[in-house]
This record gives sequence, structure tokens and C-alpha cells, in this order.
Amino acid sequence: MILLIGATGFLGPPVLKKLLETGYEMSCLIRTDSDRTDLLDTAKSAGKEILFSCGTLRSSDSIISALKKADSVIYMVDLEHTDLLENFLEAASRSGIKRAVFISSTTVLIPQDSRVKNQKINSEKLIKSSELDYTILRPTMIYGSKDDNNFSKMIMFIKKRGFFVIFGNGNNLIQPIFIEDVADSITRVIDNKKTYGKIYNIAGRDSLKYRDMLDIVRNKLKKHFRIIKFPLKFSRLLISIYAKISGNPSLTPGQIERMGIDKTYLYQKAADDFHLSPLSFEDGIERLIKELEGKN
Ligand SMILES: NC(=O)c1ccc[n+]([C@@H]2O[C@H](COP(=O)([O-])OP(=O)(O)OC[C@H]3O[C@@H](n4cnc5c(N)ncnc54)[C@H](OP(=O)(O)O)[C@@H]3O)[C@@H](O)[C@H]2O)c1
Repeated sequence: MILLIGATGFLGPPVLKKLLETGYEMSCLIRTDSDRTDLLDTAKSAGKEILFSCGTLRSSDSIISALKKADSVIYMVDLEHTDLLENFLEAASRSGIKRAVFISSTTVLIPQDSRVKNQKINSEKLIKSSELDYTILRPTMIYGSKDDNNFSKMIMFIKKRGFFVIFGNGNNLIQPIFIEDVADSITRVIDNKKTYGKIYNIAGRDSLKYRDMLDIVRNKLKKHFRIIKFPLKFSRLLISIYAKISGNPSLTPGQIERMGIDKTYLYQKAADDFHLSPLSFEDGIERLIKELEGKN
């Protein structure tokens, strides 16, 4: 039995689906007020039953009780929350569980310093110093379902408004990973001893310039849209004024800064150890557009 923690998030249902299809028995630790509809629908369409343990990472007892029924655990709660991870690691050590897969992020590799990056790095250090047989997967930006905050939002925006705004010249490199490739990676590492004690970057097949990515979106959407470019310096200034005026800004100068950075990562180690063979962006975005148009 595998325990999923963080199953009610964006990544949860596709990961659950893949593991159920592979034949694993699954349980999920969820908070009492979390919406479990997507998980129940996923289990139903796979023709399988799943077990729920109600609890929170703030309570050691509920973590231990969920872990006692499991042989291994997949931890998908953001490692930015180092306090929750500490609770988990302490409970894991008391429960005696050995095998755990953690989902981190390539954010830890970005050259610029940020609070989130430092917290994730700190969490990775705690995992590495634990007694668990751990594997850490670091995905790049994940896309490929109607719930993603990245490309599905972008496509909806373009369809509605007929234009898209970019900050900078669009020459920065990106390498987003399709959600099913993340689910597949988790399924491939869970029982793979070669991956114990290791950290892997997982990314889309190719790195591409942001503006080339927009060309691909345009071709696949079969819709012309205008691209409005704001120079980075000007955008930083504008967003810092906005951030000062707004109490709770939806965009910060730091985010603008990071938009101009190349985010491209080697995944050869993952290809060697568990045969990661990710989808190209062309194929991934085509599948997402079909899903959003209800054609899947
Ligand atoms: N999304 C991306 O593009 C992306 C890219 C790279 C890496 N990642 C990493 O992938 C992992 C999963 O991401 P995601 O986008 O699926 O995350 P998400 O949608 O934010 O989901 C977070 C999950 O954590 C659970 N959670 C939060 N606090 C909890 C607590 N105290 N006790 C128990 N559960 C708690 C949430 O449960 P509730 O439903 O109860 O809130 C939810 O199931 C994260 O580590 C993230 O950093 C994501």
C-alpha cells in the first residue's frame, strides 16, 4: 500500500490514476475539510477502491496512523513548508516507514535568491539527513490539465482576450513538463532501488525560447493573437509601484525578475535510471488544448 500526502492538489489525481493503473493499492492522507471528489472520480474510473485517512501534517498522530498502514509514501506537499516537512519526518521516523518519494522543484536551482527557494533547499537538506530511503524529484513548471495555473490559464486568457502580455524579449528558455510525465516518473521510481538516496531533475523533452513556445501555442490553437511585450526594466518598476499600492499583489518584482531567467535543466540522470522520456511541448500543448475544448 502506498500513502499519498498532498493528493487533493493539482498533481494528486493524475498521480493516483497512474499508480492505480500500475496495480498499486493506494491510500491518501487528507484534511477533513478537503475536497476528495476528484480522487473518488479517479478511483472510480480506474475501477479501484482507495483508502482515506483523515488528518493533517500538523498532527503527528494522524500521520503515524496513516503511515502504519503503508509500505511506502509519496509526499507532494510544497517543500516551502519546512515546518510541515519536519513534522512528517519526525512521524515517519517514529512509524518505522523506510521508503519515501518527495516532490521538490527546480526552483532550488534558480540562481537568484528567494525565501521560497531557501526554504525548499532547507527541506531537501532535512530529507537527505533523514534515515529514509528517499528519492527527490524536482519537476520544472508542470502543465497539462485544466487545473494548471500556467498554460491552461494562458490559453483561456488568449481565447477570451485575443492577446497575451510578456515581460522581457521572450528570449529566455523554458522547459515545462507534462503532468503525466511527472506521474509516470513517480510510478517508475517508487520501487526502483537505483533511485534511493538520489535527486533527479525532471523536465520537458526540449528547452525552448518563451517566444517560440508562444508560436507553438498559436499554431496549435489555430488562432492569431497579439503579443504585447513590456521591457523587463520598465515592468519591474511598474510592478514595484503596483506592489506598494496593493496590499496583496498578485505579481511581485521578484516574479518579474525570475520570468527573464533561463529555466532549462538536464534530465539525463532520470533518463538513465528510470527511463524518463518526456513529451515534446508540441504534443503536450496539443493534448491540453484538446482537454480544454472537451475533446478528450
Ligand atoms: N504545480 C507546479 O507547476 C509544480 C512545479 C514544480 C514542482 N511542484 C511541486 O509538486 C508538489 C505538488 O504540487 P501541487 O501543485 O499539486 O500542489 P497544490 O495543488 O498546492 O497541493 C498541495 C497539497 O498539499 C496539501 N496540504 C497542504 N497543507 C497540508 C497540511 N497541513 N496537511 C495535509 N495536507 C496539506 C493540500 O491539501 P488541501 O486540499 O487540504 O489544501 C494539497 O493536497 C509540490 O511539492 C510542488 O512544490 C509543482
